[in-house]
Amino acid sequence: MRKLTVRAPNGDTPVWVGNEAIRRVGGLLRGKSRPSSLHVVSDRAVWKLHGRTLEETLSTPGLSISKTLLAPGESAKSIASLERIWRDAARHGVDRRGLFVAFGGGVVGDLTGFAAGTFLRGVAFVQVPTTLLAMVDASVGGKTGANLPEGKNLVGVFLQPRAVAMDLRFLATLSTRELRAGWAEVIKTAAIRDARLLERVASYGPRLDALDRSSLADIVARAVAIKARVVEEDEREANLRMILNFGHTLGHGIEAAQGYGKLLHGEAVAIGMAFAARLGERLGVTPSGVARTLEEIIAGADLPTRVRSIDRRLLIKAMGRDKKRGPKGQRWVLLRDFGETVITDDVPVRIVSSELDRFLEKG
Ligand SMILES: NC(=O)c1ccc[n+]([C@@H]2O[C@H](COP(=O)([O-])OP(=O)(O)OC[C@H]3O[C@@H](n4cnc5c(N)ncnc54)[C@H](O)[C@@H]3O)[C@@H](O)[C@H]2O)c1
Ligand SMILES: [Zn+2]
Repeated sequence: MRKLTVRAPNGDTPVWVGNEAIRRVGGLLRGKSRPSSLHVVSDRAVWKLHGRTLEETLSTPGLSISKTLLAPGESAKSIASLERIWRDAARHGVDRRGLFVAFGGGVVGDLTGFAAGTFLRGVAFVQVPTTLLAMVDASVGGKTGANLPEGKNLVGVFLQPRAVAMDLRFLATLSTRELRAGWAEVIKTAAIRDARLLERVASYGPRLDALDRSSLADIVARAVAIKARVVEEDEREANLRMILNFGHTLGHGIEAAQGYGKLLHGEAVAIGMAFAARLGERLGVTPSGVARTLEEIIAGADLPTRVRSIDRRLLIKAMGRDKKRGPKGQRWVLLRDFGETVITDDVPVRIVSSELDRFLEKG
């Protein structure tokens, strides 16, 4: 079992990575600061597969466990789901010393954190992520949220979980496609901060399924440590934290232009990273050859580097609406090299647009 710590102004969050990591959550339920009750939030698919394991591990004499089960998928990340969580918790008498448990992918994690941060003006929560994406990205860093019909993640609060338990056993039932989508965020994390990790990640190529648990634990722990250091320096995304958006300017644009659900988020980010590297080379920021190597790494993991059939106009429009714009315009995270980034918001739209034409043609 590996243990990391995320330091935040309001306290430290322990992150456990390994088999049976959820046992550590069980430990929290008994100590001095034991909660008055638990409210578990999950999606029906995750619960069907792993609900028993969670219940058995968390079951503690004298502690009542209530739950909200949501429909699987991004469409559940709504205010309606939030209301269900609040009302279920209220109906079960969860009080200020209650503890919410997010048990699922990033959708469940983001919603549960938001619900916890607002229920009774704030109760604690723990993250038990069950997708690779939620482990290496969504469950760490304290961002929570829900979608509005007007856009993704438009509402939410910053709230650090009390603890995060990344139990790798749960990944055994995750589809290969979802696993690869999470891997894209691992590639991203390595590309922006750790060239050696990137080499290691590249060496696995498409053999993700065969990755043994101990190598996986190592890589997850390393990616989480990188994210944790970035978030510690900049919890509210004033600056440094933006580097985590490498590949996301175009990635978010693709998701919005295509309609959510066609490409997985990680797949859109994979394409976005390929483009950001190309754009960086065009601007003379990224050394030539980096884009090609990065694309080989992405493709080597069976992730896409180009988008098929997309409405270019919609794409440009969607990128223009990105809430992470800088004062001068679209914000780009570019590579100065593997492991080093530059954030810029003054790339002329004309260059983005002509580079995009080349990029889309090569598709
Ligand atoms: N808060 C953050 O910093 C942050 C960062 C990145 C992403 N996110 C958010 O995370 C969400 C995406 O997360 P996600 O990719 O985990 O999506 P998700 O939660 O929708 O899970 C993907 C699918 O996998 C299924 N699933 C989950 N665990 C499983 C398991 N162990 N076995 C089998 N199936 C399983 C789910 O039922 C779902 O159908 C997005 O809403 C995104 O905005 C948040
Ligand atoms: Zn992402």
